[in-house]
Amino acid sequence: MKVTVITAFPEFFRAFFETSIVGRAVERGLLEVDVVDLRDYGEGSYSKIDDYSFGGKGGMVLMAEPLALALEGLKGDPYVVYPSPQGVPLTQETVETLFSKGDVVIVCGHYEGIDERFVSSRVDLELSIGDYVLTGGELPAMVIIDAVSRLVPGVVGKGRSVEEDSFFKGMLDTPHFTRPSSWRGQDVPDVLLSGNDGAIEDWRRREAVRRTLERRPDLLSRSGLLGYMDKNAFLMLPLSEVSSPWEIRSIARSCGFYGVSKLLIPVEDRDTRDSVRSLILREDLGALVKLFPSVARALRWVSDKEKAVPYMVGFNGFNSSGLSWLEIKREILKVSRPVIFMAGGDEKDCDVTMRPVAGDDRSRSALPVQNAISVVLDRFFGWR
Ligand code: ADE
Repeated sequence: MKVTVITAFPEFFRAFFETSIVGRAVERGLLEVDVVDLRDYGEGSYSKIDDYSFGGKGGMVLMAEPLALALEGLKGDPYVVYPSPQGVPLTQETVETLFSKGDVVIVCGHYEGIDERFVSSRVDLELSIGDYVLTGGELPAMVIIDAVSRLVPGVVGKGRSVEEDSFFKGMLDTPHFTRPSSWRGQDVPDVLLSGNDGAIEDWRRREAVRRTLERRPDLLSRSGLLGYMDKNAFLMLPLSEVSSPWEIRSIARSCGFYGVSKLLIPVEDRDTRDSVRSLILREDLGALVKLFPSVARALRWVSDKEKAVPYMVGFNGFNSSGLSWLEIKREILKVSRPVIFMAGGDEKDCDVTMRPVAGDDRSRSALPVQNAISVVLDRFFGWR
């Protein structure tokens, strides 16, 4: 990963590139860094890099020409980032995008900002690190570089994976503790000292969920639930909802892709059940699909397997009086029960019904069940 910074204040970066994790990444050659002094490209004997803002009240703006010359002095074709309060918000996804570019240059503004003609013609991405105004782009540049460098393999220590970070699957991180186990009257939660890996994992998961719901419920829209639920998830598909056996194959594969435990299909008629069973065998879907003579039998099977009564979420494409998918997502995290998504079928079997995936427009016909299922699976089990 290569990062170049163009700045009028290169001294800001000396300690940053020599210290701690970023410093070690630079030293080990995992992160290649370069700092370009904008004043080297300034105009005249005073190396002028800024001038008064046109139509402004005396504020200074960095001029386009020194910035362009500094950029043109670089080799290759780097991706150009300009940190500014007017930018799009920096998120973990943006960090991942920047990492994927491989060669990034960050142009630090100062004073009132930089000439808009440089921004519109040379900048690929204007990025804000938050809704507040700093005196320049140097601190945001360091924030961006720090976050990107953590994704470079080998930069964060062994035994510590970025998969465990906050936001990796869209939720906040769990609390952390170190020695001593008792500090000024406050004890570390017993479970963390128990040596029981399963119980520790459960506790961490619940804490991550609790904190996310309490502090950042907005994150829920982009977080995948599997891995944070206490029990498994299932999809129930009444046979009346599908028009061809091939739909079953495709829906089963979507379930497998998103980590849904089983596709449950209630089929009352024995002959039909036999023909669906032979399709399942032929298509090697046995691990993904299970047939039942009735909805009730399927529910009993899940209850026995999960040792808890399933939470039933119905969606049928027409019911506009149901809950929004985000509210249901929150409920699922609270109830600590296995979840069955019921595509179509009888609403009275369900704990909640979900509003149609495309909104409440009754003038449109419902989305085909296969498509609606994919959207639902992605909203609940996909992340970001
Ligand atoms: N420059 C000044 N304030 C900033 C912010 N909030 N984000 C990014 N760049 C900035």
